[in-house]
Amino acid sequence: MSTVTVSSAAREQRVTARSVGRAKRRDQRLVMLTAYDFCFARIFDTAGIDLLLVGDSLGNVVQGEDTTLPVTLEEVIYHTRMVVRGAKRALVVADMPFGSYHVSPEDATRNAIRLVKEGGAQAVKLEGGAFMVEVIEHIVRAQIPVMGHVGLTPQSIHQMGGYRVQGRGEAGRLQVMDDARAVQEAGAFACVLEGIPADLAAEVSAELAIPTIGIGAGAGCDGQVLVLHDLLGLNDWTPSFAKQYAGLGALTAKAARAFADEVRNEKFPDEAHSYR
Ligand code: KIV
Repeated sequence: MSTVTVSSAAREQRVTARSVGRAKRRDQRLVMLTAYDFCFARIFDTAGIDLLLVGDSLGNVVQGEDTTLPVTLEEVIYHTRMVVRGAKRALVVADMPFGSYHVSPEDATRNAIRLVKEGGAQAVKLEGGAFMVEVIEHIVRAQIPVMGHVGLTPQSIHQMGGYRVQGRGEAGRLQVMDDARAVQEAGAFACVLEGIPADLAAEVSAELAIPTIGIGAGAGCDGQVLVLHDLLGLNDWTPSFAKQYAGLGALTAKAARAFADEVRNEKFPDEAHSYR
């Protein structure tokens, strides 16, 4: 695998669902981060991140919920609009929240269209394998690129009995492989592999023609995704599979304490920060 990103040949060219597929054929790693607002979308876009995912993880990291289940379609549309304004090059993928694609393929497609039409998303992501084939096919027929998501699917928390690593044991491995194949066959342009053993993720990635993007799935995927709060150390804790690349939580608290201290000691605002 080369470490050249999808952007290196033509830095300013917009990333598309098609160019994401090309990246795999050229053996180029894909980089995806979650983003929920204009500010971070602009920073990540400028930094050359290939895909921005408006993840339903916003339920956890932005809204403070215990699960992603309460997130609504309206909320994802709202956040997607902000991210789209900050993304000049990155492909913006909007997560379909729980309940927005489970009723029927028609309802799912209607909701995917809203994410594109009202949110400005360029692709949507949804969780589930073989049992989501019809839904994926229906959305793809509406000309909307779909990213699959198999393995540990957080919206299935109640069915899984917690956030458990998937794909362990022979039956589990077969299930994940079948799900990934089904998602590809249904027309998805890429697939997130979450919370599965690294060797299985490598096998799935070698088997599929479409790129896999891993989170807690080891180094054998075609790309990697992290939640921005984990990347930047903005949460109280970081999952073991995620790497903290900055400690912005501690830095932010330090800045807030310094500000409070200066206000209380009447040092801010000083002359330099006042109008004459
Ligand atoms: O919602 C999200 O952030 C996700 C990623 C973890 C892939 O689905």
